[in-house]
Amino acid sequence: MNNQQLYERARQLIPGGTQLLSKRPEMFAPDVWPAYYREAKGCEIVDLDGRRFVDMSTNCVGACLLGYANEHVDRAVQQRVQSGSMCTLNSPDEVELAELLTELHPWADMVRYARAGGEALSIAVRIARAATRRDQIAFCGYHGWSDWYLAANLSGEVLGAHLLSGLDPAGVPRGLEGTVFPFQYGDLDALREIVRNNTPAAIVMEPFRQRYPEPGFLEGVRQLADESGTVLVIDEVSSGWKFHCGGAHMKLGIEPDMAVFAKTISNGYPMSAVIGRSQVMDAAQTSFISSTYWTDGIGPAAAIATIRQMQQIDVPAHLESTGARAMKKWTELGQQYDVPAQAASLPAMSALKFDHPQQLMMHTLFTSRMLDHGYLAGSGFFPTLAHTEQHVDGFIDAAGEVFTEIRDAIVNDDLESRLKTPVRQTGFQRLT
Ligand SMILES: Cc1ncc(COP(=O)(O)O)c(C=O)c1O
Repeated sequence: MNNQQLYERARQLIPGGTQLLSKRPEMFAPDVWPAYYREAKGCEIVDLDGRRFVDMSTNCVGACLLGYANEHVDRAVQQRVQSGSMCTLNSPDEVELAELLTELHPWADMVRYARAGGEALSIAVRIARAATRRDQIAFCGYHGWSDWYLAANLSGEVLGAHLLSGLDPAGVPRGLEGTVFPFQYGDLDALREIVRNNTPAAIVMEPFRQRYPEPGFLEGVRQLADESGTVLVIDEVSSGWKFHCGGAHMKLGIEPDMAVFAKTISNGYPMSAVIGRSQVMDAAQTSFISSTYWTDGIGPAAAIATIRQMQQIDVPAHLESTGARAMKKWTELGQQYDVPAQAASLPAMSALKFDHPQQLMMHTLFTSRMLDHGYLAGSGFFPTLAHTEQHVDGFIDAAGEVFTEIRDAIVNDDLESRLKTPVRQTGFQRLT
């Protein structure tokens, strides 16, 4: 079976086709985006049909900052696999990683582990609720698939304003309605209002997502948490290690009560960590938080190797300069070809967009044509250590050729007829 046939079969066997919304071909260019890969190394991918691509998309939603199949991390994993990755006893790497994380974060005393971001956030929320003996949660931003979070949409769609639209809370108990309170990043007054009228166990938020905070915002959040006895949980699942070795909150000089890491912490191997102050983390012992696969040896081995690499190499500086180069050239290219190309967000997690009423069609056409040039390209570029200036420049050269066609399509108003595929989707929707 080729790529498209296999994905067609997957959609019959696997509801939604994939386990991660962001890996659905429908999110890029339906019917042409390669769903499956055979090999991935650095920033290059060979798909199931043997075609080779440079990955100029979000690079597995930012999970592999050192690039795919990083040799240092893979060596550590191979050693662990050869010595047995799982048995009746615990992996000593769990303790070494806890030492490493608490050394990097002097404000934190204790650590718990899971294997994915969403479940680690659920653990953090459970611990915060156990520590405070309160139920409610104030939050902004995206925090995964769990009940506590999706409950925000029980009384109407509010999560669309927090990264992902269309999230249906089907299956989330109605009884959770009114337990979570959203506020917009930067809106301290809204958070103040939530804290004044309720008694949240935790404030859960990313340190930032698309922009750095205004001076005083995070300090204000910290103060509100202190005054109200609320646990401040910083979600570093996406931002962690991209902006600063140890997490973005360190760059911003904020000390939370808990921080959550996943994805970037282990360069693609399943691993996540909840770190925190002992006053809060101790409550984990009063609740039942336990899972067999949270004890596997591969995750901690990968995380230690990844963090040690990131302590030696200034990964955030590389991501910043590579991402900024792409953003600058993308905008310049737009001006050169008279295409409404816009670069937004921060260089390590940039959005390369089109500001046009038919932007979804434009993106679909762009992505389809870039595949022919040997690039995986969506509407965001998350660079990795494996991306060089040459990768960025090659991508921009190829994008220039596609921009020529996009310009013609705008002038002739025939974008739709150029598309040989359905238009890509955004947000969550059921696949038929
Ligand atoms: C900020 C944030 N929190 C939580 C998650 C959920 O992590 P996971 O997909 O590993 O469950 C994500 C995933 O993108 C994220 O960006």
